[in-house]
Amino acid sequence: MKTEKWDASKQSLIKAAQLLNEQEVVAFPTETVYGLGADATSEVAVSKIFKAKGRPSDNPLIVHVHDPSQIQHYVTEISTMAQQLIEHFMPGPFTIILPSNGTVADTVTAGLDTVGIRIPDHPIGRALIQEANLPLAAPSANLSGKPSPTTAEHVYQDLYGRIAGIIDGGATGVGLESTVVDATGDIPVILRPGGVTKQQIEQVAGQVELTGSLKENQPKSPGMKYTHYEPDAPLVLIDGDQRFFQKHINKFQQEGKKVGIIASKPLVDQLQAAIRYNCGSRDDLSQVAANLYYGLRYFNDTDVDIILAETYPQEGIGDAIMNRLTKAATHWYTQNKNI
Ligand code: TXA
Ligand code: MG
Repeated sequence: MKTEKWDASKQSLIKAAQLLNEQEVVAFPTETVYGLGADATSEVAVSKIFKAKGRPSDNPLIVHVHDPSQIQHYVTEISTMAQQLIEHFMPGPFTIILPSNGTVADTVTAGLDTVGIRIPDHPIGRALIQEANLPLAAPSANLSGKPSPTTAEHVYQDLYGRIAGIIDGGATGVGLESTVVDATGDIPVILRPGGVTKQQIEQVAGQVELTGSLKENQPKSPGMKYTHYEPDAPLVLIDGDQRFFQKHINKFQQEGKKVGIIASKPLVDQLQAAIRYNCGSRDDLSQVAANLYYGLRYFNDTDVDIILAETYPQEGIGDAIMNRLTKAATHWYTQNKNI
């Protein structure tokens, strides 16, 4: 299949919307990461998403709509708590899980009786959904197991020849996926930390639960590989001070390995390694979030044998950063035992 690459003009949106209505899949920008969209009501279209990504069929997809008024078409009930979350966080990097009314294809919800809905806060993403006049099932537009794409080039690298087209809207802003919140019970439950923080949700809902501790993401044995957000070279987390970090760089170098590091300022400048990727200021974790996947993919164009990454405080967007890093890592070394 030839994959078309479009700019973000009105003409491109019309062409992409037309293909979506012909049950094809198209990648588009959102404020979190690029999505791979298809008509959420069509089994044929949705099955092409799973095929293009190599995604396991038991992992449900998020349904993207362009306006809050659309949500009611796909759910049986919106509680007062859910309504408040919708008003505060949608559009935005937020996915709400509600009881499904069965309108979307079964493969979208992977047979669950709930559906995840999101409204991207991105002019191109929303304009495409509106132009197509369809609910769009859209996972991140990467090959399953790889870091999510934050540029059209990333999508191209992973999915060229597998999808109908890509709308290039430049780099995404948030850089990590949306916060997935189950709003079917009395208290909102964060199933995946993301662009909207636990603290922000707490302010609206009073109480909130966060599932999946970092310990659960910790690789259990050295041989065990995770297939999440993984760069080509193995990623190792270093949770400790500058000396501790440098000691591990040196150790891998002594084993004959070419070491890449991904760290924030000021630490990144204080370490010595073959290749260093600066992911922003530690004082502003939104910079680290925005650059994280870009950084992980950056090393795929190098010949490093191993990537060492810094850890971050688990507060605000730090929850999402540490969630992705621990899932992407094959090992971690800790000095503080605080993760
Ligand atoms: O920011 C994002 O959310 C991006 C952009 C493209 O919108 N999308 C994204 O989709 O990250 P994906 O497929 O990579 O991740 C969707 C997550 C998965 O962890 C999935 O298990 C969860 O949402 N999910 C979807 N529907 C669900 C449901 N009904 N119940 C529980 N979890 C659900
Ligand atoms: Mg994904």
